[in-house]
Amino acid sequence: MKKHKKNNLLITGGAGFIGCNFVKMLLEDMRIDDLNLVVLDNLSYCGNLQNLDFARNYSNYVFIKGDICDRVLLDKIFAENEINGVINFAAESHVDRSIHDSEPFLRTNVGGTLALLDMSVKHNVKKYLQVSTDEVYGSLSAAEPAFTEQNYIKPRSPYSASKASADHFVMSYYATHNLPVVITRCSNNYGPNQFPEKLIPLMVLNAMEDKDLPIYGDGRNIRDWVYVGDHCAAIWNAFECGNVGEVYNVGGNCELTNLQIVTKILDVLGKPESLIKYVADRPGHDRRYAMNSDKITRELGWKPKVGFEDGFAATIEWYKKNYEWCRKIRSGEYLEYYRRQYENI
Ligand code: NAD
Ligand code: DAU
Repeated sequence: MKKHKKNNLLITGGAGFIGCNFVKMLLEDMRIDDLNLVVLDNLSYCGNLQNLDFARNYSNYVFIKGDICDRVLLDKIFAENEINGVINFAAESHVDRSIHDSEPFLRTNVGGTLALLDMSVKHNVKKYLQVSTDEVYGSLSAAEPAFTEQNYIKPRSPYSASKASADHFVMSYYATHNLPVVITRCSNNYGPNQFPEKLIPLMVLNAMEDKDLPIYGDGRNIRDWVYVGDHCAAIWNAFECGNVGEVYNVGGNCELTNLQIVTKILDVLGKPESLIKYVADRPGHDRRYAMNSDKITRELGWKPKVGFEDGFAATIEWYKKNYEWCRKIRSGEYLEYYRRQYENI
């Protein structure tokens, strides 16, 4: 890989859902010349190298299989590649898994972030971007206004507690070590390559196979949906132009109940509503998320571009066309998880 370019970026978690869409945006859509990408991912249960197949022929891209908690490896990667920017996607990302076992969330989301921050200070990184989530703000009632960057951090699941903790470490490295950090906090993403443990792909695949669609509780919990490509554009915008020490909320301005989402899926696929099965609620289930993205729009000019109807149709189409991708990853560990999560509820 050629060095001494303007941006030698370390992208962690690039084999996951949002990370691979982000790498694709940079390499295939934006085709930025002055950029070297080092993608680091430990290929955990949801990381899939096939997601990055498109990148193999780019001379300004390398993939390294490794763990963000491995400080010796990080030190070597930063030194050898003259890393001067970091975008941290790597995480344990599924709330239900964090309820079964929260230790991996502490390890990767907090410990891994801390290791990246220490290496970023040591190697004098020029920008560190932490990909965070709206879940750090906790839960809204129907009457409350959408979250702004001024809301208190009030996580309610082990997953969101680990992400909130990471955010606090990131900000502390700005205050204490002067590390130039930016945090983005985004709402629920949908789009191609999402691992089928999450609501939309799980329901699409179950419906395609005429299996039950397990809705937690009364199905009236609300999420604010944003197309993954719009989230990726917001991250790049914040990385390039965001002010250091700042948080930027990112949302789709598209609040829907889980029941609305599932009904739409059945409608598009022409499947009967009798597939819906109400199951026990998620413990501590956050009722509603909604993001106020005024700050990133005002300061950086970002706005979501993909309307829900278009993004949703494209997403369902992607899962139909990539059934083989889904079949392969829904094996082994995933089947065990599925049994544990859904058999007794
Ligand atoms: P994902 O679970 O699909 O991908 C996570 C990736 O991180 C995987 O490729 C995995 O192999 C990798 N990884 C996990 N532990 C690692 C470790 N210790 N070392 C190296 N790599 C590791 O998750 P996603 O949905 O793509 O989310 C990416 C980031 O965006 C996460 O930080 C998540 O908290 C955040 N986020 C997600 C959403 C969403 O709706 N999916 C919304 C807001 C923010
Ligand atoms: O809001 C951003 C967050 O969105 C990200 O930080 C997380 O990484 C991401 O996983 C996602 O978290 P959620 O918990 O909102 O997403 P999930 O797809 O797991 O669930 C969405 C909603 O659907 C939630 O209210 C729970 C419900 N649900 C989910 C599953 C998997 C069901 O009713 N049944 C299910 O089987």
